[in-house]
Amino acid sequence: MRGLLTRYVKVSTTALKQTNRRRCLSNSCRPDEHLRSFIAENTEAAGGESLTPEIRLRLFTPKCRFWRERPELWPFDDPYWAIYWPGGQALTRFLLDNPGVCLGKRVLDVGSGCGASAIAAKLCGAAHVVANDIDTVAAVATHMNCELNGLEPPICVMDNMIGSESGGFDLILLGDMFYDEALATSLHSWLNRCIETHGADVLIGDPGRAQFEGHDIRRLLRQLAEYELPESVREENYGLTCSSVWRYHPEL
Ligand SMILES: C[S@@+](CC[C@H](N)C(=O)[O-])C[C@H]1O[C@@H](n2cnc3c(N)ncnc32)[C@H](O)[C@@H]1O
Repeated sequence: MRGLLTRYVKVSTTALKQTNRRRCLSNSCRPDEHLRSFIAENTEAAGGESLTPEIRLRLFTPKCRFWRERPELWPFDDPYWAIYWPGGQALTRFLLDNPGVCLGKRVLDVGSGCGASAIAAKLCGAAHVVANDIDTVAAVATHMNCELNGLEPPICVMDNMIGSESGGFDLILLGDMFYDEALATSLHSWLNRCIETHGADVLIGDPGRAQFEGHDIRRLLRQLAEYELPESVREENYGLTCSSVWRYHPEL
């Protein structure tokens, strides 16, 4: 699993491919039982050592088989959804501490992974929440994580929405999505369009990754909060110590 962990920072180019169909997992669908069993067997209900101990999540921990198993035995795409990333932790903490940000809003969590930020939006009274991740397994994990927290799952969209028409959202959340320069650049121009056409509010959580700090979008962000990462999160994230939440204020 350590081998898998070291691959997390690399984004697959397939992540940027477009598709015309919308693949969704709504709360009325029962996800594949085999996949649910696989996730249950290979993760542990955790989250207590994160910035948001009040949210429980199915994650990889040292107790899980694939923590040490050879990565090639993992049968799916790299499981980004089984890690609660420092950027997502800060963003989720911020939402829980400022419930008015989501209250009554239509919220889109892009690159939702384990679904923690979408879960926080639901807990804070958002009117409508969509969790979007191109990894179909992430959608099933998000359903299971909602159940773990006694919540109805959000709609999970599994297509690449970056670059597509994204009307209808008041708030767009991006937790730890600036880990790759090409992805950051496509996000930047898409966010400009979302703000220009629909006036969406955009919140970003990032622990100061080089691809984020060095990107053009960085000078257009206003810092809203900074959190010190818990010790265990620092250890798993190669020396990162803090994670911040930013609001995007483009000069359009
Ligand atoms: C670093 S993880 C962050 C997950 C979560 N937001 C968090 O902070 O814990 C990035 C996630 O973005 C997803 N992703 C990558 N490219 C994407 C795209 N174009 N659209 C939607 N999700 C994408 C990956 O599958 C992965 O789950």
